[in-house]
Amino acid sequence: MKPKKLLLIALVSLSALVILSGCGKSKPTVTVPETPAPQVSTQTTKVSSIIDQVRNSQHFKMFPTLISEKEKDPSFDYEDGCISCHSEIAILKDPGAKLTDFFKGGKYANEREGITCLVCHNVGGEEMISLRNPGWKSCTTCHTSGGTITLGKEVHHSQKEMIEGIGVGIVATTPSYKWVAMKDTFSCTDCHVTNGLKHDFMVPGVTVTYDALGTTRTGTQMDYTKFADMFKQDKCVTCHYEPSSTISKIQQRQTEISQKIDTLKPKFDSWEKKVQSLDPKDPKVAQFNNARTYYMYVTSDASKGAHNYALTKSLLQQAEIEINKLN
Ligand code: HEC
Ligand code: HEC
Ligand code: HEC
Ligand code: HEC
Ligand code: HEC
Repeated sequence: MKPKKLLLIALVSLSALVILSGCGKSKPTVTVPETPAPQVSTQTTKVSSIIDQVRNSQHFKMFPTLISEKEKDPSFDYEDGCISCHSEIAILKDPGAKLTDFFKGGKYANEREGITCLVCHNVGGEEMISLRNPGWKSCTTCHTSGGTITLGKEVHHSQKEMIEGIGVGIVATTPSYKWVAMKDTFSCTDCHVTNGLKHDFMVPGVTVTYDALGTTRTGTQMDYTKFADMFKQDKCVTCHYEPSSTISKIQQRQTEISQKIDTLKPKFDSWEKKVQSLDPKDPKVAQFNNARTYYMYVTSDASKGAHNYALTKSLLQQAEIEINKLN
């Protein structure tokens, strides 16, 4: 085996160990194996940069925060069933793990890690580092609302359903362009550029803001000049050699969808409060829940129409019709 490959394995397994052992905010001390051969130095830089990016990503940071909040405040909205997509331990080692196992004194008290390298990657074999779930599945094992959307129910992280275009209620199934035309050759990571250099999982140009706790996204800012880098990948230039018209179309659509969400949000926020004081059998409650499904499908996808403009638009139209029936 080539020394380059050996070092890569060492670093990757080490990174997993470093990540597993320290959940503090301090940087990990990565002990590089002795006397690395000179030709591997670029690979070393790349891998340590990936480790930093993953450690700084919400994928990694969210779970420890949620656990410590729950430990401080038992009424905090986080349950045993919630950790199956958030914690390395629950995903890889112990699907039956409970929240209390991660509390002080619990058996995983020192393993409060979020999503680490090994959640997505297998290490070893010919490929050295490969994906456990290739293609769309590398992201949709978690970024899914469960495959279907049910009218009257809440919707969470609906990116899979949005791209596949799954209909709900009277809104018909409307797959996205990429799903219709390029399902077998495209995936989330083609737009959320993820490779040996980039592991923040964000679309190029996106900056995110969070609430004070740092677990809930409050908004995103898109720099469309940096976004253009997405189309510079070898895989895209054949078709998107002059991407400016596609980019301005996306920008215009995102603006339109954001404005629509902004006008609907106050209505949904105020009815959300009102229905809490109503008898659950009051028809207004069911009416609100139906309206909310259309609306949450869009807000929980969070791409502002970029994943599937046509479906997003129809869902918001229906959300507006349904919520207006309450006024
Ligand atoms: C099917 C896998 C899965 C399960 C189960 C799950 N989550 Fe998540 N969770 C995700 C994904 C994926 C995201 C990121 C979605 C996004 O940012 O659009 C997320 C994000 C979050 C966020 C951050 C939201 C934000 O605005 O950034 C919170 C808080 C959260 N989940 C809490 C919960 C709670 C509470 C439960 C249990 C009721 C739960 N999760 C169960 C996959 C899951
Ligand atoms: C959320 C899932 C996810 C996590 C977490 C993750 N990766 Fe990746 N990684 C990917 C994807 C997707 C690719 C692109 C693979 C492809 O296109 O075949 C990738 C590619 C890579 C590559 C390039 C492989 C190649 O053949 O070019 C390396 C090296 C790598 N990851 C290392 C790491 C390390 C080290 C960590 C932890 C610090 C990590 N990854 C965490 C999803 C992930
Ligand atoms: C093991 C479950 C899991 C997998 C696999 C996964 N994610 Fe996530 N993802 C999450 C969770 C949980 C969050 C919530 C973190 C938050 O928003 O606080 C999240 C958040 C995100 C965010 C929002 C980040 C932010 O800062 O708000 C993006 C973008 C994202 N994931 C993209 C991807 C991509 C692209 C892939 C595939 C390479 C992927 N995810 C694979 C669970 C997962
Ligand atoms: C056609 C390109 C494209 C594909 C394919 C794609 N995304 Fe996105 N995604 C985007 C764009 C553009 C945004 C909006 C970025 C913004 O305005 O914040 C976005 C937003 C998101 C967000 C909200 C957080 C953020 O970055 O704004 C998540 C989470 C996400 N995508 C996950 C996924 C997952 C999971 C898949 C695969 C099922 C996927 N995306 C496929 C382009 C894409
Ligand atoms: C085989 C040709 C082809 C390839 C290769 C291709 N695209 Fe596209 N793409 C299209 C067409 C056609 C459209 C729809 C026309 C439009 O909206 O400009 C499109 C639309 C898009 C959109 C707008 C959102 C949407 O889904 O309509 C994004 C974002 C995008 N492509 C990103 C990419 C990225 C990133 C790559 C490379 C990883 C890529 N495309 C590779 C043909 C292609």
